[in-house]
Amino acid sequence: MKRVAILISGGGSNMLRLVEDMIGDHPARPVLVASNDPHAAGLEKAEARGIATAAVDHRDFPRDRAGFEAALLRPLLAAKPDIICLAGFMRILTPEFVSRFSGRMLNIHPSLLPKYQGLDTHARAIAAGDAEAGATVHEVTPELDSGPILGQVRVPVLPGDTPQALAARVLEQEHRLYPAVLRRFAAGDRTPLML
Ligand code: GRF
Repeated sequence: MKRVAILISGGGSNMLRLVEDMIGDHPARPVLVASNDPHAAGLEKAEARGIATAAVDHRDFPRDRAGFEAALLRPLLAAKPDIICLAGFMRILTPEFVSRFSGRMLNIHPSLLPKYQGLDTHARAIAAGDAEAGATVHEVTPELDSGPILGQVRVPVLPGDTPQALAARVLEQEHRLYPAVLRRFAAGDRTPLML
């Protein structure tokens, strides 16, 4: 049974779908939900489901990314995770941190990578006049939003779409994609899943 730690920064809707899927014959179970924000609403949702949580406030480590990550590593390593899932985690991790979990850290990014790495993905897709948008689950490597793609899901960009409307349409599909990719990944299957 693979042990999965999930890192969040906010509401944790993706975390919740991952947790809700890891039951029964699923080859993995959640062992920790951790956040860079002690007030992240997702922490309460995890606690309500009996999952251990941890929070390290990145604001306690101004201009000290290494210090923040060292503090985050303590509860993270104590949980002995086999897989780390970044789910709405909004901090950039150093290559040193990422390399500790090489080949077993996943992230979901709200664009059809390699398009639109970084932030404001929906506004950029709309501004570019793209007919499609979507989300990507990828392995995390030291270069931001650039690791091997494990799954993608597409949605139409509709006339008059605001970034918020598109974000909501994409998020709904993220909730399908991420659990499906984690289930396969935990079973040792890295074949990209195109929904
Ligand atoms: C969403 O914008 C999602 O696209 C991205 O992180 C944000 C919040 O996700 N992955 P969540 O609700 O905290 O999972």
